[in-house]
Amino acid sequence: MKIREVFLPLNRPSIGETEIAGVTACLRSQWITTGPLCKSFEERFQELTGARHAVSLCSATAGMHLVIAALGIGPGDEVITPSLTFASTVNMIAMQGARPVFADIHYDTLNIDAADIEARITPKTKAIIPVHFAGAPAEMDRILEIADRHHLIVIEDAAHAVGTRYRGIHVGGFGKVAVFSFHPLKNITTGEGGLIAHSDDELEKRLRLLRFHGIERDAWKRYGRGGNPEYDIEAPGWKYNLTDIQAALGIAQLSRLDEFNRRRAEIVALYRTELHGIEGMELPGESCYPHDHAHHLFVVKILAMERERFMERLSDYNVGYGLHFPACHLLKYVKERFGVVKLPETERAAKRILSLPLFPDMTDGDVAYVCAAVREILCGSEGGGN
Ligand SMILES: Cc1ncc(COP(=O)(O)O)c(C=O)c1O
Repeated sequence: MKIREVFLPLNRPSIGETEIAGVTACLRSQWITTGPLCKSFEERFQELTGARHAVSLCSATAGMHLVIAALGIGPGDEVITPSLTFASTVNMIAMQGARPVFADIHYDTLNIDAADIEARITPKTKAIIPVHFAGAPAEMDRILEIADRHHLIVIEDAAHAVGTRYRGIHVGGFGKVAVFSFHPLKNITTGEGGLIAHSDDELEKRLRLLRFHGIERDAWKRYGRGGNPEYDIEAPGWKYNLTDIQAALGIAQLSRLDEFNRRRAEIVALYRTELHGIEGMELPGESCYPHDHAHHLFVVKILAMERERFMERLSDYNVGYGLHFPACHLLKYVKERFGVVKLPETERAAKRILSLPLFPDMTDGDVAYVCAAVREILCGSEGGGN
């Protein structure tokens, strides 16, 4: 096949006139840091998730840090989370002096195994952080039931999950805490950004204080018309706020969420049809419970050759790829600080997984090209499979 001239990346944000108009209007308004647009973005997330509160932030990592700190999770506590996730969550657990305890995953869906969560609970366990992997929800009924029975906090890592629903409930709407990401690779972006959705009035106060230096009133309330510029600090906090420029981008992206996720679903359906039956690779497994998948990532498993070789070959075809994720329990500092653990299903999956390009502006022709490249790499130019 003819090699394409233009590189096809793993992902590319879809920025159109709606986004440009929104950001331009914010710049013209002359209020560019946290203010009315952040508030409006937060309100839209309350509507989307059904959560009573939404706190916008500069990243999901910042959000996870705030939540862990605000809930008083620290030295002596254990937090159960998957190893097949981005290191940021594990870093934040470690940063606050707690111990990450890794639960295994289901090899086919790559989502956390609820039975293994329960098996790893000890008297020190304080919280469970499930990840809605690649945009498919974790098995929330079982996780919530286990958490209730053992009196544990649940913090959903919803970085991949804008538009993800479990049995009709949008993640973040279970009455617990969820942390979303708006990094440029995510389903909607604010450039960089994050948001905590939750329904706990006391937690809300602590989150808002810790988000902004420990000051109760942010700049909008201090320097806006009639504002009070005085402040006191009850406890030191971080500077983790989102800006209105970013929120303007986020509001525009959110207005296109259904369009984005519909297109993502179409691309995944095309992949599934065109890659079906190719020997030497496995397609993502699908959870059997009712859910809406946000299709953040399309993660296949390469069986027929070393993954490194497969990545080199994809590069020859000018196609990008991603690795979601190197298993956290195998990272250097994690092994040194927390010891070696065995996670058979995670390890079996971790050496085979590879993310193929997936973003709303991909054309059907792009998808067909990737599939033809994969077929040639794995089966030779005559095609193959069964
Ligand atoms: C599962 C998961 N959690 C958390 C994060 C952190 O998000 P952010 O980059 O917004 O801090 C990511 C980002 O890639 C992620 O994939």
